[in-house]
Amino acid sequence: MKEIIQKDFEIYFGSDVLEKLAEILINKEYSKIFVLVDNHTKIHCWPILSPYIVNYELLEIESGESNKNLQNAELIWTKLQQHQADKNAVIINLGGGVLTDLGGFIAATYKRGIDFINIPTTLLGMVDASIGGKLGIDLHSFKNAVGLIKNPKYIFIDPTFLKTLPAIEMRNGLAEVCKHALIDDKSLFEQLQQTHESEVLDSLLFQSLKIKVKIVKKDPFEKDLRKTLNFGHTIGHAIETHSLKNDPIPLKHGEAIAIGMICEAYMSVVIQGLSTDELKKISTYFISRFPKYKGKLPPSSLIEYMKNDKKNEEGFINFTLLKKIGKAKINCHCHDELIIKALDYYQHL
Ligand SMILES: NC(=O)c1ccc[n+]([C@@H]2O[C@H](COP(=O)([O-])OP(=O)(O)OC[C@H]3O[C@@H](n4cnc5c(N)ncnc54)[C@H](O)[C@@H]3O)[C@@H](O)[C@H]2O)c1
Ligand SMILES: [Zn+2]
Repeated sequence: MKEIIQKDFEIYFGSDVLEKLAEILINKEYSKIFVLVDNHTKIHCWPILSPYIVNYELLEIESGESNKNLQNAELIWTKLQQHQADKNAVIINLGGGVLTDLGGFIAATYKRGIDFINIPTTLLGMVDASIGGKLGIDLHSFKNAVGLIKNPKYIFIDPTFLKTLPAIEMRNGLAEVCKHALIDDKSLFEQLQQTHESEVLDSLLFQSLKIKVKIVKKDPFEKDLRKTLNFGHTIGHAIETHSLKNDPIPLKHGEAIAIGMICEAYMSVVIQGLSTDELKKISTYFISRFPKYKGKLPPSSLIEYMKNDKKNEEGFINFTLLKKIGKAKINCHCHDELIIKALDYYQHL
């Protein structure tokens, strides 16, 4: 078992972490233990976790982004109340990013905040969503419109849970694993280049999540360094929104972000002096592991989406670009023509 001990939270990583969880639950003497699952993690993950927990209430929501909403928060708050959960109760979130964002939000606001523990069960959850304390719900169609930043007390990351995760969800997380490498760790990128398709070895997973921990520790409220995590996301989010509106089967977040990273790497060559050799390596990596987008990428509507991005400042579209693989530069701006060229570059790969 590997450990990362921080001032306000602890992370345990490995296939033996649930024993540690059982030990902590006994020592902490919580007044009540609630376990939040979705309909998939109830089937695939709860049987693995349940032998380690006694005296609990199991709470369930439907899976999927459309359920990260106020109605579900209210439903779970009400159930906590019905079970007389007091300030010394704890919620264990067993699931992907939807569940840890929602469950964390519910815990952080119930009675002005009770403890919560994250047990991420998707690759994206393990390297990204469960770490860094961003909690929240969507409001109408606005993602993460209401929320706050508060860390869980503990995060238990057991790669065993990934055995039942569908391949498309693995690839979704792989995009973020690779993003961490591109912004911070050249050697991790080189190791990823040598792995096949969406295979992610435990050691690579751990290296990737350590990068997220390091970044959010230095800049928890996204004043500067945390913005490096937005690499690929300015164009990627616009493509994700476009696909959601136009495609019968919309792109997953990771698939859109993979395209975004290729385009923003292209822009990095022009603005930040990334070498064309490194651009080629990045493009080859994503093209060989992610399906090529077959729909249209109309620059004008994509740029319009980018102009509405909440991360913009002073009227500029804000990009995080790369100086080289392993070194990111935040707050970059460019003319629209370069964005158009970058989209064109992707479409001709
Ligand atoms: N808080 C943050 O910093 C942060 C960062 C990135 C993303 N997010 C959020 O994370 C969410 C996306 O998270 P996600 O990609 O994990 O999606 P998700 O939580 O919807 O999980 C994906 C699917 O996999 C299923 N599943 C989960 N674990 C499984 C397992 N072990 N076996 C089989 N099926 C399993 C889920 O039920 C779901 O159907 C978004 O809402 C996004 O906004 C938050
Ligand atoms: Zn992302």
